[in-house]
Amino acid sequence: MPAYRPPHISPSEITPKGIYLSRRNFIGAATAAGIGLTAGGKAWAAPLTAAPGPYKLNEKLTPKEAVTSYNNFYEFGVNKEDPAQNSGAFKTTPWSVKVEGMVGKPKEFGLDEILKMKLEERTYRMRCVEGWSMVIPWIGFPLSAILDQVEPLGSAKYVAFETVVRPEEMPAQGGLFQPLPWPYIEGLRLDEARHPLTILAVGLYGETLPNQNGAPIRLVVPWKYGFKGIKSIVKIKLVEKQPETTWKNSNAREYGFYSNVNPAVDHPRWSQATEQRIGEGGFFGTKRVDTLPFNGYGNEVASLYAGMDLKANY
Ligand code: MTE
Repeated sequence: MPAYRPPHISPSEITPKGIYLSRRNFIGAATAAGIGLTAGGKAWAAPLTAAPGPYKLNEKLTPKEAVTSYNNFYEFGVNKEDPAQNSGAFKTTPWSVKVEGMVGKPKEFGLDEILKMKLEERTYRMRCVEGWSMVIPWIGFPLSAILDQVEPLGSAKYVAFETVVRPEEMPAQGGLFQPLPWPYIEGLRLDEARHPLTILAVGLYGETLPNQNGAPIRLVVPWKYGFKGIKSIVKIKLVEKQPETTWKNSNAREYGFYSNVNPAVDHPRWSQATEQRIGEGGFFGTKRVDTLPFNGYGNEVASLYAGMDLKANY
C-alpha cells in the first residue's frame, strides 16, 4: 500500500468557511454561468417527491447553495469547490447497484427501480471529521429495504460499499496526483447498516442529488463522521469480516472503522469537541457549537455499541 498523505485538514488550517462561503455567495450571481449554476445542480437535478419521514429536526437547514458548493468528493479534486466545478461531465444514467456476497438472492438494482422505492424526506444533522457541520434535507430510503430484498445469510456480519471508478469522467482518478486509492470504499457492521437511521439517499432539497453530492445514490449515516457517507455507489457486498475502508487504509492512526461522532475522542491533529455550522455565525462564520455524542443520535444508536470501548474503537 503506497503511503498516501492524509488530505483531511482542520478548520484552523484553511480559510474560515464563513469567509469562503460569504465570498462565494457574494460572487455567486456574477458567476451563475460557471460555478454558480453547476453548484446549484440545476443542470441535472430533477424534482423528486417524497413523503415526510421520521426523525424530524428542529434546526435551521443549511442553505442549499452551501450544501451543493462546499463538498468533499476527492474523485473530482481535493478542494471544497472542486466537486461542483469538475463533476459536470459525470454521467449518472444509466446506473445500477450490484448487491452481492453472503446473500440468498444477489441482485442488481437499476436506478429506475431504486427511484420507485418508498422515498422519504429525512432531515439529518451531518458532522464532518474536519470540524464543520450541516443540516440537510435528504431524500432516500432505509438501506435495510434493499438488504431485506437480497436476504443476507446468517454468516454475513458486515456490509462493504464501493464507489464507481471512471477516470474519464472523474478528473482526480485520472490525474497525475492521486489523492486517495480508488475505488473509494466504506463499510458498516450489519446492525449499523440495518439501523432505521441509515439511508441510501437519492436526493436533497426536493430534487435528485447533484453530482457533487454523490449522484445518483449515496450512503448517509448521520451519527458517524461524513466520510462514512460514500457517494456514487455501484456495489454493496455482504461479508463476514470487517471490510477495509478508504480513510483507515490511508491513515489508520487518524481514521478508524467506526468513526462515530464523539466529542470526547479528539482527532490526533485537532479537537472534535466543537463544530462550525456552515452558513451560520455571521460574516466571519467563526461561531462554534458543541458537538454531541453520536452527533445527537445517541438515544437511537448508543445501544449498538454497548460494552465497547469507543476510545479504542474510534
Ligand atoms: N465518497 C466518495 N466516493 N469520495 C469522497 O471523496 N468524501 C466523503 C464522503 N463520501 C467522499 C465520499 C467525505 S470526507 C465527506 S465529509 C462527505 O462525503 C461529504 O458529503 P457532501 O459533500 O455531500 O457534504
